[in-house]
Amino acid sequence: MEKTITVLPGDGIGPEVMKGALRVLKAVEARYGHQFNVTEMPIGGKAIDETGLPLPSETLEQCKKSDAVLLGAVGGPKWDGMEKRPEQGLLQIRKDLNVFANLRPVKAFASLGDISPLKPELIENVDLIFVRELTGGLYFAQPKRRTGNEEAVDTLYYHRNEIERVVKKAFEIAASRSGKLTSVDKANVLESSKLWREVVNEMAKSFPEVKVEHMLVDNAAMQLVRNPGQFDVIVTENMFGDILSDEASMITGSLGMLASASVSEEGPGLYEPVHGSAPDIAGKNAANPLGMVLSTAMMLRHSFHMNDEADAIEMAVQEVLNANYRTSDIESKKGRISTTDEMVDQLIYRLDENAATA
Ligand code: NAD
Ligand code: IPM
Ligand code: MN
Repeated sequence: MEKTITVLPGDGIGPEVMKGALRVLKAVEARYGHQFNVTEMPIGGKAIDETGLPLPSETLEQCKKSDAVLLGAVGGPKWDGMEKRPEQGLLQIRKDLNVFANLRPVKAFASLGDISPLKPELIENVDLIFVRELTGGLYFAQPKRRTGNEEAVDTLYYHRNEIERVVKKAFEIAASRSGKLTSVDKANVLESSKLWREVVNEMAKSFPEVKVEHMLVDNAAMQLVRNPGQFDVIVTENMFGDILSDEASMITGSLGMLASASVSEEGPGLYEPVHGSAPDIAGKNAANPLGMVLSTAMMLRHSFHMNDEADAIEMAVQEVLNANYRTSDIESKKGRISTTDEMVDQLIYRLDENAATA
């Protein structure tokens, strides 16, 4: 198959993990006889440096005409306090591609049981997925402004249509999994959450096979560390999903492990790891590339329907971890610390082995 992919490495460790993902993609291309036409474009701080804008129109146009978009990470201290921020580019591309549903799976890896700060018996078999609303809520709604040194305002607004489309997606995912959906809100305080709850209850009538529960967000934050095994699909508004998914990354042991897919009803999907540009370790060949690599597997599965290829990458990740190759964020007592590039070497080696024996 021939596919066009726009690649947005971004800032900090973004380009380092993206380099690894592209090497894995090349290996998949060769093993499975595909052709991936990759075009790299600037976003975030790099784009500000080059063009003055965090999302240049050329970058957006290239993304829109692609089959899928891969993104590393944006941001860093260099651009803190500037009028234009790298993060604006990320928010704008999500909005302009209309990728309203951000899927963030969290699965415990058996061989990382000793890395997680949670007890091994709590995380065993945890396999949950967040469906985070991504293009509305506090991040986007107007008014949003700063008035002098005295006042600042952000607005938590949702239209019923915005809630319906993301909740429907979550019901569909729940129906295809265990049939359990947890909707997380703050309906004891927020008007937007009351509307959210109403929409979930109405939608539930169309999905009788899905068992729905509502949970307040403060309780959800606690339940995620008390007993994460109780969750299967969690649907929630933009900022709650942002915060809870970083928290839930500790089920795997590192934020560097988490992948995501941001999807719309039509048009290209956007695939990016959950982590940021990690300025504290950038430029050291030390970043964990697995979140980015697993995001690439999600792209193959969701946008290109290349299930065997995605399975092969996910299997290679398992095997590399089982063989005790670790970047410093998932350091094990048994093995030595690998660089970003060495982790990717090991992944590609296993992809080859598995392809040879398939
Ligand atoms: P961060 O996710 O960049 O880093 C948090 C911590 O996790 C750091 O200690 C970092 O070293 C570690 N970490 C993250 N990814 C890792 C990886 N792959 N391997 C090993 N360790 C990893 O969050 P932050 O420090 O709060 O934010 C830094 C910058 O990144 C900010 O400018 C922020 O806005 C931006 N950010 C961007 C995205 C994105 O582009 N999607 C996401 C989150 C944060
Ligand atoms: C994420 C990030 C972004 C978000 C920031 C960088 C705007 O934290 O992708 O989780 O809050 O959505
Ligand atoms: Mn985040």
